[in-house]
Amino acid sequence: MKSYLIAGNWKSNKTTNEAMEWLQKLSAISLGTRDSGQELSAKNNTFVLCAPYTLLFFMKQEIDRLQLPIALGTQDVSPFGDGAYTGAVSARQVKEFADWVIIGHSERRKYFGETDEVLAQKVAQAKTAGLNIIYCVSDENTVIPDGVDAVAYEPVWAIGTGKAETPEHANAVIAAIKAKTQIAMVIYGGSVTPDNVASFLAQSAIDGVLPGGASLDAEKFAALLQAVEL
Ligand code: PGA
Repeated sequence: MKSYLIAGNWKSNKTTNEAMEWLQKLSAISLGTRDSGQELSAKNNTFVLCAPYTLLFFMKQEIDRLQLPIALGTQDVSPFGDGAYTGAVSARQVKEFADWVIIGHSERRKYFGETDEVLAQKVAQAKTAGLNIIYCVSDENTVIPDGVDAVAYEPVWAIGTGKAETPEHANAVIAAIKAKTQIAMVIYGGSVTPDNVASFLAQSAIDGVLPGGASLDAEKFAALLQAVEL
């Protein structure tokens, strides 16, 4: 049986109060309980929520208190270690609260000018700190640095547009990425919703999904997690 990775990406959304409300809603919907470490849920699937840095401390405490089967991640990390890098958060600082990190999201490339070179530095820092890395690519030709744990195939035109890629084409691209890189865990992102998630998870090469917009709503996120059991 396949093990799935479902990783929500909140992007620049939510205050502490809003995060509290989301966690309580998720908790009210039965999701089973956490076993150990970042390996979550009764069925060997991994559920991750990539939150803004400002929420990590609070969310870690609440996830523990509510015993939710969710690991925390961030949406970025510094390409440098600790030190005089104003505004940056190092991988070692992230690791205090989170076990996962998204690197190379197309919004980081587009709005923050991140290059393959800087992204490779981020991967190296995250690896050294022991973070699990989800590396985003827009097609099968994007350069992928060594050491990433999972890849997310996210066609730029499908992100936040409500127009998801077809599951069959996503499967073909993901199969090509796997053949090229030997990376075992490759997921799909781009307008994933509770309505279309099952069609992606049913594909042979697709190991999970990376929802953005749908992860902001606790009920929708719970529906996505529950879809792995279908
Ligand atoms: P979306 O975002 O689900 O809102 O399209 C996906 C992502 O950017 O990771």
